[in-house]
Amino acid sequence: MTEPFNVALVGLGKMGISHLAIANATPGMKVVAVCDTSALLGGMVQKYANIPYLAQYADALSLPGLDGVIVATPTRFHADMIRQAMARGIHVFCEKPMTLDADTSGAIADEAARAGLVGQVGYHNRFVGTFGEAKRLLDLGALGRLRHIHAEAYGPVVLKPAAKTWRSQSSEGGGCLYDYAAHPVNLMNWYAGAPVTCSGAQMTQQWSTDVDDAVFANLSFDGGVSGQVSVNWADETARKMTTKLCLWGDHGKITVDRQEIQVFIGTNGTPPEGYRKGWTIKYITELTDHPAFYLRGEEYSAQMEGFVAAMRNPAGPYVNDFASGAATDRTLSMIRDSARGVVPARATAVLKPVPQRPAMRAGLFGWTLKRA
Ligand SMILES: NC(=O)c1ccc[n+]([C@@H]2O[C@H](COP(=O)([O-])OP(=O)(O)OC[C@H]3O[C@@H](n4cnc5c(N)ncnc54)[C@H](O)[C@@H]3O)[C@@H](O)[C@H]2O)c1
Repeated sequence: MTEPFNVALVGLGKMGISHLAIANATPGMKVVAVCDTSALLGGMVQKYANIPYLAQYADALSLPGLDGVIVATPTRFHADMIRQAMARGIHVFCEKPMTLDADTSGAIADEAARAGLVGQVGYHNRFVGTFGEAKRLLDLGALGRLRHIHAEAYGPVVLKPAAKTWRSQSSEGGGCLYDYAAHPVNLMNWYAGAPVTCSGAQMTQQWSTDVDDAVFANLSFDGGVSGQVSVNWADETARKMTTKLCLWGDHGKITVDRQEIQVFIGTNGTPPEGYRKGWTIKYITELTDHPAFYLRGEEYSAQMEGFVAAMRNPAGPYVNDFASGAATDRTLSMIRDSARGVVPARATAVLKPVPQRPAMRAGLFGWTLKRA
Protein backbone atom coordinates (compact mmCIF):
# COMPACT_ATOMS: atom_id res chain seq x y z
CA MET A 1 0.00 0.00 0.00
CA THR A 2 1.27 3.45 -0.83
CA GLU A 3 0.28 6.77 0.66
CA PRO A 4 -2.00 8.55 0.53
CA PHE A 5 -4.26 5.67 1.54
CA ASN A 6 -7.47 5.55 -0.48
CA VAL A 7 -10.49 5.56 1.80
CA ALA A 8 -14.24 5.36 1.24
CA LEU A 9 -16.72 6.79 3.73
CA VAL A 10 -20.17 5.37 4.39
CA GLY A 11 -22.82 7.34 6.25
CA LEU A 12 -23.02 11.07 5.56
CA GLY A 13 -24.79 12.16 8.74
CA LYS A 14 -23.61 14.06 11.78
CA MET A 15 -20.46 12.00 12.25
CA GLY A 16 -19.83 11.08 8.63
CA ILE A 17 -19.79 14.66 7.38
CA SER A 18 -17.27 15.75 10.01
CA HIS A 19 -15.13 12.63 9.43
CA LEU A 20 -15.24 13.45 5.72
CA ALA A 21 -13.91 16.97 6.23
CA ILE A 22 -11.22 15.78 8.64
CA ALA A 23 -10.18 12.75 6.58
CA ASN A 24 -9.81 14.88 3.47
CA ALA A 25 -7.44 17.18 5.34
CA THR A 26 -5.49 14.41 7.07
CA PRO A 27 -2.01 13.87 5.68
CA GLY A 28 -1.62 10.36 4.27
CA MET A 29 -5.32 9.82 3.51
CA LYS A 30 -7.58 10.57 0.55
CA VAL A 31 -11.35 10.06 0.43
CA VAL A 32 -12.06 8.55 -2.98
CA ALA A 33 -15.79 7.81 -2.59
CA VAL A 34 -18.75 8.41 -0.32
CA CYS A 35 -21.79 6.24 0.19
CA ASP A 36 -25.17 6.84 1.83
CA THR A 37 -28.73 5.64 1.39
CA SER A 38 -29.66 9.28 0.81
CA ALA A 39 -28.94 10.18 -2.82
CA LEU A 40 -29.64 13.80 -1.89
CA LEU A 41 -26.74 13.88 0.61
CA GLY A 42 -24.46 11.88 -1.67
CA GLY A 43 -25.27 14.10 -4.64
CA MET A 44 -24.46 17.24 -2.62
CA VAL A 45 -21.07 15.88 -1.59
CA GLN A 46 -20.35 14.82 -5.16
CA LYS A 47 -21.36 18.22 -6.52
CA TYR A 48 -19.74 20.50 -3.95
CA ALA A 49 -16.79 18.43 -2.66
CA ASN A 50 -16.11 16.70 -5.98
CA ILE A 51 -15.96 13.24 -4.37
CA PRO A 52 -17.72 10.44 -6.27
CA TYR A 53 -20.96 9.22 -4.66
CA LEU A 54 -21.94 5.57 -4.82
CA ALA A 55 -25.38 4.48 -3.67
CA GLN A 56 -24.29 0.89 -2.96
CA TYR A 57 -21.77 0.12 -0.23
CA ALA A 58 -20.62 -2.99 -2.12
CA ASP A 59 -19.73 -0.80 -5.11
CA ALA A 60 -17.62 1.47 -2.89
CA LEU A 61 -15.77 -1.53 -1.49
CA SER A 62 -15.11 -2.80 -5.03
CA LEU A 63 -13.19 0.32 -6.04
CA PRO A 64 -9.72 -0.68 -7.23
CA GLY A 65 -6.92 0.31 -4.84
CA LEU A 66 -9.22 0.96 -1.88
CA ASP A 67 -7.22 0.68 1.37
CA GLY A 68 -9.68 1.63 4.07
CA VAL A 69 -13.26 2.48 4.92
CA ILE A 70 -14.79 4.83 7.49
CA VAL A 71 -18.12 3.49 8.76
CA ALA A 72 -20.39 6.21 10.18
CA THR A 73 -23.83 4.67 9.77
CA PRO A 74 -26.31 3.98 12.60
CA THR A 75 -24.89 1.29 14.88
CA ARG A 76 -27.21 -1.50 13.70
CA PHE A 77 -25.34 -1.60 10.39
CA HIS A 78 -21.78 -1.67 11.78
CA ALA A 79 -21.25 -5.43 12.11
CA ASP A 80 -22.28 -6.25 8.56
CA MET A 81 -20.40 -3.31 7.06
CA ILE A 82 -17.20 -4.11 8.95
CA ARG A 83 -17.38 -7.75 7.86
CA GLN A 84 -18.01 -6.87 4.21
CA ALA A 85 -14.93 -4.62 4.22
CA MET A 86 -12.71 -7.12 5.99
CA ALA A 87 -13.74 -9.84 3.55
CA ARG A 88 -12.09 -7.72 0.86
CA GLY A 89 -8.94 -7.08 2.91
CA ILE A 90 -9.91 -3.46 3.61
CA HIS A 91 -8.93 -1.69 6.86
CA VAL A 92 -11.80 -0.28 8.93
CA PHE A 93 -12.40 2.75 11.09
CA CYS A 94 -15.87 2.34 12.58
CA GLU A 95 -17.86 4.71 14.75
CA LYS A 96 -18.74 3.64 18.27
CA PRO A 97 -20.20 1.51 19.66
CA MET A 98 -18.62 -1.20 17.56
CA THR A 99 -21.75 -3.39 17.25
CA LEU A 100 -24.91 -4.08 19.22
CA ASP A 101 -23.80 -7.55 20.27
CA ALA A 102 -20.69 -8.11 22.38
CA ASP A 103 -20.13 -11.67 21.07
CA THR A 104 -20.23 -10.40 17.50
CA SER A 105 -17.78 -7.63 18.35
CA GLY A 106 -15.41 -10.13 19.98
CA ALA A 107 -15.58 -12.44 16.95
CA ILE A 108 -14.94 -9.54 14.56
CA ALA A 109 -11.96 -8.40 16.66
CA ASP A 110 -10.48 -11.91 16.37
CA GLU A 111 -11.13 -12.00 12.61
CA ALA A 112 -9.40 -8.62 12.12
CA ALA A 113 -6.39 -9.74 14.15
CA ARG A 114 -6.13 -13.01 12.19
CA ALA A 115 -6.39 -11.15 8.88
CA GLY A 116 -3.82 -8.53 9.91
CA LEU A 117 -6.32 -5.75 9.24
CA VAL A 118 -6.70 -2.49 11.12
CA GLY A 119 -9.94 -2.24 13.05
CA GLN A 120 -10.30 1.03 14.92
CA VAL A 121 -13.36 2.25 16.84
CA GLY A 122 -14.21 5.95 17.16
CA TYR A 123 -13.81 6.44 20.90
CA HIS A 124 -12.27 9.88 20.42
CA ASN A 125 -11.86 10.58 24.17
CA ARG A 126 -8.82 8.32 24.21
CA PHE A 127 -7.18 10.96 22.00
CA VAL A 128 -7.91 13.78 24.46
CA GLY A 129 -4.68 14.81 26.21
CA THR A 130 -6.16 15.00 29.73
CA PHE A 131 -7.74 11.52 29.56
CA GLY A 132 -4.49 10.16 28.09
CA GLU A 133 -2.51 11.73 30.92
CA ALA A 134 -4.72 9.98 33.49
CA LYS A 135 -3.98 6.67 31.76
CA ARG A 136 -0.24 7.42 31.77
CA LEU A 137 -0.26 8.26 35.48
CA LEU A 138 -2.21 5.10 36.32
CA ASP A 139 0.23 2.97 34.34
CA LEU A 140 3.08 4.63 36.25
CA GLY A 141 1.38 3.57 39.48
CA ALA A 142 1.03 7.18 40.65
CA LEU A 143 -2.13 6.36 42.66
CA GLY A 144 -0.81 3.12 44.10
CA ARG A 145 -3.48 0.45 44.17
CA LEU A 146 -6.67 1.59 42.44
CA ARG A 147 -9.75 1.31 44.65
CA HIS A 148 -12.68 3.04 42.99
CA ILE A 149 -13.58 4.69 39.72
CA HIS A 150 -16.55 6.91 39.01
CA ALA A 151 -17.55 7.81 35.45
CA GLU A 152 -20.18 10.37 34.59
CA ALA A 153 -21.47 12.23 31.56
CA TYR A 154 -24.37 14.62 31.16
CA GLY A 155 -25.78 16.54 28.26
CA PRO A 156 -28.85 18.00 26.57
CA VAL A 157 -29.53 15.44 23.81
CA VAL A 158 -33.20 14.70 24.50
CA LEU A 159 -35.11 17.49 26.26
CA LYS A 160 -38.63 16.73 25.03
CA PRO A 161 -40.52 13.76 23.62
CA ALA A 162 -38.23 12.71 20.81
CA ALA A 163 -39.07 12.39 17.11
CA LYS A 164 -38.68 8.87 15.76
CA THR A 165 -35.13 8.38 14.50
CA TRP A 166 -32.64 5.53 14.90
CA ARG A 167 -31.47 7.25 18.12
CA SER A 168 -34.90 6.79 19.70
CA GLN A 169 -35.08 3.06 18.89
CA SER A 170 -33.26 0.42 20.90
CA SER A 171 -33.13 -2.05 18.00
CA GLU A 172 -31.12 0.53 15.99
CA GLY A 173 -28.58 1.24 18.73
CA GLY A 174 -30.31 4.33 20.09
CA GLY A 175 -30.63 5.27 23.74
CA CYS A 176 -28.42 6.80 26.34
CA LEU A 177 -26.46 3.63 27.17
CA TYR A 178 -25.32 2.75 23.65
CA ASP A 179 -25.16 6.18 22.11
CA TYR A 180 -23.89 8.23 25.06
CA ALA A 181 -22.74 6.26 28.11
CA ALA A 182 -20.51 4.21 25.78
CA HIS A 183 -17.94 7.05 25.97
CA PRO A 184 -17.36 7.23 29.74
CA VAL A 185 -17.71 3.44 29.98
CA ASN A 186 -14.98 3.09 27.35
CA LEU A 187 -12.68 5.34 29.42
CA MET A 188 -13.50 3.32 32.50
CA ASN A 189 -12.45 0.16 30.66
CA TRP A 190 -9.23 1.87 29.63
CA TYR A 191 -8.38 2.74 33.22
CA ALA A 192 -9.69 -0.22 35.19
CA GLY A 193 -9.95 -3.03 32.61
CA ALA A 194 -13.02 -5.11 31.91
CA PRO A 195 -15.51 -5.43 34.78
CA VAL A 196 -16.33 -8.87 36.11
CA THR A 197 -19.79 -8.07 37.41
CA CYS A 198 -22.44 -5.41 37.12
CA SER A 199 -25.21 -4.98 39.65
CA GLY A 200 -28.04 -2.64 40.45
CA ALA A 201 -28.09 -1.03 37.01
CA GLN A 202 -30.99 1.25 36.12
CA MET A 203 -31.83 2.51 32.65
CA THR A 204 -34.52 5.10 33.18
CA GLN A 205 -36.76 7.10 30.85
CA GLN A 206 -37.63 10.76 31.07
CA TRP A 207 -38.75 11.75 27.56
CA SER A 208 -38.09 8.67 25.43
CA THR A 209 -40.47 5.76 25.14
CA ASP A 210 -38.43 2.98 23.50
CA VAL A 211 -34.98 3.81 24.84
CA ASP A 212 -33.33 4.94 28.05
CA ASP A 213 -32.51 8.57 28.87
CA ALA A 214 -30.26 7.85 31.86
CA VAL A 215 -28.05 5.01 33.06
CA PHE A 216 -26.78 4.23 36.54
CA ALA A 217 -24.76 1.11 37.37
CA ASN A 218 -22.36 -0.46 39.84
CA LEU A 219 -19.44 -2.44 38.45
CA SER A 220 -16.72 -4.52 40.04
CA PHE A 221 -13.34 -5.09 38.48
CA ASP A 222 -10.48 -7.49 39.11
CA GLY A 223 -8.63 -6.99 42.37
CA GLY A 224 -11.62 -5.59 44.20
CA VAL A 225 -11.78 -2.28 42.29
CA SER A 226 -15.32 -0.89 42.41
CA GLY A 227 -16.89 1.39 39.84
CA GLN A 228 -19.99 3.48 39.31
CA VAL A 229 -21.52 4.90 36.14
CA SER A 230 -23.88 7.86 36.12
CA VAL A 231 -24.95 9.18 32.72
CA ASN A 232 -27.93 11.27 31.65
CA TRP A 233 -28.56 12.66 28.17
CA ALA A 234 -31.69 14.55 29.22
CA ASP A 235 -29.82 17.06 31.37
CA GLU A 236 -30.45 20.65 30.31
CA THR A 237 -27.87 22.03 32.73
CA ALA A 238 -25.15 21.47 30.13
CA ARG A 239 -24.77 22.77 26.59
CA LYS A 240 -22.45 20.00 25.42
CA MET A 241 -21.59 16.51 26.60
CA THR A 242 -19.62 16.74 29.83
CA THR A 243 -17.57 13.62 30.55
CA LYS A 244 -15.75 13.35 33.84
CA LEU A 245 -13.98 10.54 35.69
CA CYS A 246 -12.74 10.32 39.22
CA LEU A 247 -10.28 7.66 40.38
CA TRP A 248 -9.29 6.89 43.96
CA GLY A 249 -6.16 4.93 44.83
CA ASP A 250 -4.20 4.17 48.00
CA HIS A 251 -1.81 7.05 47.30
CA GLY A 252 -3.99 9.67 45.72
CA LYS A 253 -6.84 10.69 43.51
CA ILE A 254 -7.35 11.87 39.92
CA THR A 255 -10.28 13.92 38.67
CA VAL A 256 -10.24 14.37 34.92
CA ASP A 257 -12.42 15.89 32.24
CA ARG A 258 -11.88 17.21 28.73
CA GLN A 259 -10.31 20.44 29.94
CA GLU A 260 -8.14 19.59 32.93
CA ILE A 261 -6.68 16.87 35.11
CA GLN A 262 -6.46 17.36 38.86
CA VAL A 263 -4.04 15.02 40.60
CA PHE A 264 -3.65 14.58 44.35
CA ILE A 265 -0.62 12.65 45.56
CA GLY A 266 -0.98 11.76 49.23
CA THR A 267 1.43 11.38 52.13
CA ASN A 268 2.66 7.92 51.16
CA GLY A 269 2.68 8.53 47.40
CA THR A 270 5.60 9.39 45.13
CA PRO A 271 4.80 12.21 42.71
CA PRO A 272 5.74 11.44 39.11
CA GLU A 273 7.94 13.98 37.30
CA GLY A 274 6.05 17.23 36.84
CA TYR A 275 3.76 16.56 39.84
CA ARG A 276 4.08 17.34 43.54
CA LYS A 277 2.56 16.04 46.77
CA GLY A 278 -0.89 17.47 47.29
CA TRP A 279 -2.72 18.85 44.26
CA THR A 280 -1.31 19.48 40.78
CA ILE A 281 -3.57 20.70 37.98
CA LYS A 282 -2.67 20.44 34.31
CA TYR A 283 -4.70 21.78 31.42
CA ILE A 284 -5.48 20.43 27.97
CA THR A 285 -3.33 23.18 26.42
CA GLU A 286 -0.18 21.75 27.97
CA LEU A 287 -1.10 18.13 27.25
CA THR A 288 -2.15 18.17 23.58
CA ASP A 289 -0.40 19.32 20.44
CA HIS A 290 -2.38 20.94 17.65
CA PRO A 291 -3.50 18.44 14.99
CA ALA A 292 -2.84 19.02 11.28
CA PHE A 293 -6.45 20.18 10.81
CA TYR A 294 -8.85 21.36 13.48
CA LEU A 295 -12.56 20.60 13.32
CA ARG A 296 -14.95 19.81 16.14
CA GLY A 297 -12.09 19.07 18.57
CA GLU A 298 -8.48 18.08 18.17
CA GLU A 299 -9.25 14.53 19.28
CA TYR A 300 -11.36 13.85 16.17
CA SER A 301 -8.45 14.83 13.97
CA ALA A 302 -5.96 12.94 16.13
CA GLN A 303 -7.97 9.72 15.79
CA MET A 304 -7.97 10.06 11.98
CA GLU A 305 -4.19 10.59 12.10
CA GLY A 306 -4.16 7.47 14.29
CA PHE A 307 -6.03 5.53 11.58
CA VAL A 308 -3.39 6.50 9.01
CA ALA A 309 -0.60 5.46 11.39
CA ALA A 310 -2.36 2.15 12.05
CA MET A 311 -2.73 1.45 8.31
CA ARG A 312 1.03 2.06 7.97
CA ASN A 313 1.62 -0.59 10.61
CA PRO A 314 -1.46 -2.83 10.97
CA ALA A 315 0.39 -5.13 13.36
CA GLY A 316 0.00 -2.30 15.86
CA PRO A 317 -0.36 -1.52 18.65
CA TYR A 318 -2.73 1.41 18.13
CA VAL A 319 -5.38 3.16 20.19
CA ASN A 320 -8.98 1.90 20.07
CA ASP A 321 -8.43 -1.42 18.33
CA PHE A 322 -11.42 -3.69 17.80
CA ALA A 323 -10.50 -5.79 20.85
CA SER A 324 -10.89 -2.74 23.11
CA GLY A 325 -14.09 -1.72 21.31
CA ALA A 326 -15.44 -5.23 21.87
CA ALA A 327 -14.54 -5.01 25.58
CA THR A 328 -16.65 -1.87 25.86
CA ASP A 329 -19.53 -3.58 24.06
CA ARG A 330 -19.24 -6.38 26.65
CA THR A 331 -19.48 -3.85 29.49
CA LEU A 332 -22.50 -2.18 27.86
CA SER A 333 -24.26 -5.52 27.56
CA MET A 334 -23.51 -6.31 31.24
CA ILE A 335 -25.12 -3.01 32.24
CA ARG A 336 -28.15 -3.67 30.01
CA ASP A 337 -28.54 -7.20 31.41
CA SER A 338 -28.33 -5.96 34.98
CA ALA A 339 -30.96 -3.28 34.29
CA ARG A 340 -33.24 -5.93 32.79
CA GLY A 341 -32.70 -8.20 35.77
CA VAL A 342 -30.86 -10.86 33.76
CA VAL A 343 -28.75 -12.95 36.13
CA PRO A 344 -25.27 -13.39 34.62
CA ALA A 345 -24.23 -16.96 33.81
CA ARG A 346 -20.91 -16.49 35.56
CA ALA A 347 -20.79 -14.12 38.50
CA THR A 348 -17.07 -14.33 39.15
CA ALA A 349 -15.99 -11.06 40.71
CA VAL A 350 -12.46 -11.52 42.02
CA LEU A 351 -12.57 -9.83 45.39
CA LYS A 352 -9.93 -9.46 48.02
CA PRO A 353 -10.54 -12.32 50.49
CA VAL A 354 -12.49 -11.13 53.51
CA PRO A 355 -10.80 -12.16 56.81
CA GLN A 356 -12.75 -15.00 58.44
CA ARG A 357 -14.65 -14.00 61.54
CA PRO A 358 -15.79 -16.58 64.11
CA ALA A 359 -19.24 -17.81 63.14
CA MET A 360 -22.23 -16.66 65.20
CA ARG A 361 -24.91 -18.93 66.59
CA ALA A 362 -28.12 -18.29 68.46
CA GLY A 363 -27.65 -18.98 72.16
CA LEU A 364 -30.19 -19.05 74.92
CA PHE A 365 -29.90 -15.29 75.49
CA GLY A 366 -29.35 -14.16 71.89
CA TRP A 367 -26.37 -14.42 69.49
CA THR A 368 -23.11 -15.85 70.85
CA LEU A 369 -19.73 -16.52 69.23
CA LYS A 370 -19.10 -20.05 68.01
CA ARG A 371 -15.39 -20.89 68.02
CA ALA A 372 -14.31 -22.81 64.96
N1 LIG B 1 -17.90 9.45 18.40
C1 LIG B 1 -18.92 10.24 18.68
O1 LIG B 1 -18.79 11.20 19.43
C2 LIG B 1 -20.25 9.98 18.04
C3 LIG B 1 -21.23 10.98 18.05
C4 LIG B 1 -22.43 10.72 17.41
C5 LIG B 1 -22.65 9.51 16.78
N2 LIG B 1 -21.68 8.55 16.81
C6 LIG B 1 -21.90 7.25 16.17
O2 LIG B 1 -21.80 7.46 14.76
C7 LIG B 1 -22.74 6.62 14.08
C8 LIG B 1 -23.61 7.50 13.20
O3 LIG B 1 -24.25 8.45 13.99
P1 LIG B 1 -24.74 9.87 13.38
O4 LIG B 1 -25.06 10.71 14.55
O5 LIG B 1 -23.76 10.36 12.39
O6 LIG B 1 -26.08 9.40 12.66
P2 LIG B 1 -26.91 10.21 11.55
O7 LIG B 1 -28.29 9.70 11.64
O8 LIG B 1 -26.67 11.67 11.67
O9 LIG B 1 -26.25 9.76 10.16
C9 LIG B 1 -26.31 8.44 9.69
C10 LIG B 1 -26.17 8.47 8.17
O10 LIG B 1 -26.08 7.12 7.72
C11 LIG B 1 -26.92 6.99 6.57
N3 LIG B 1 -27.31 5.58 6.47
C12 LIG B 1 -28.22 4.94 7.22
N4 LIG B 1 -28.26 3.63 6.87
C13 LIG B 1 -27.36 3.48 5.87
C14 LIG B 1 -26.95 2.37 5.08
N5 LIG B 1 -27.47 1.15 5.29
N6 LIG B 1 -26.01 2.56 4.15
C15 LIG B 1 -25.47 3.80 3.94
N7 LIG B 1 -25.83 4.88 4.65
C16 LIG B 1 -26.76 4.73 5.61
C17 LIG B 1 -28.07 7.95 6.82
O11 LIG B 1 -28.72 8.32 5.60
C18 LIG B 1 -27.35 9.12 7.47
O12 LIG B 1 -26.90 10.05 6.52
C19 LIG B 1 -23.49 5.86 15.16
O13 LIG B 1 -22.91 4.59 15.33
C20 LIG B 1 -23.28 6.69 16.41
O14 LIG B 1 -23.32 5.94 17.61
C21 LIG B 1 -20.49 8.78 17.41
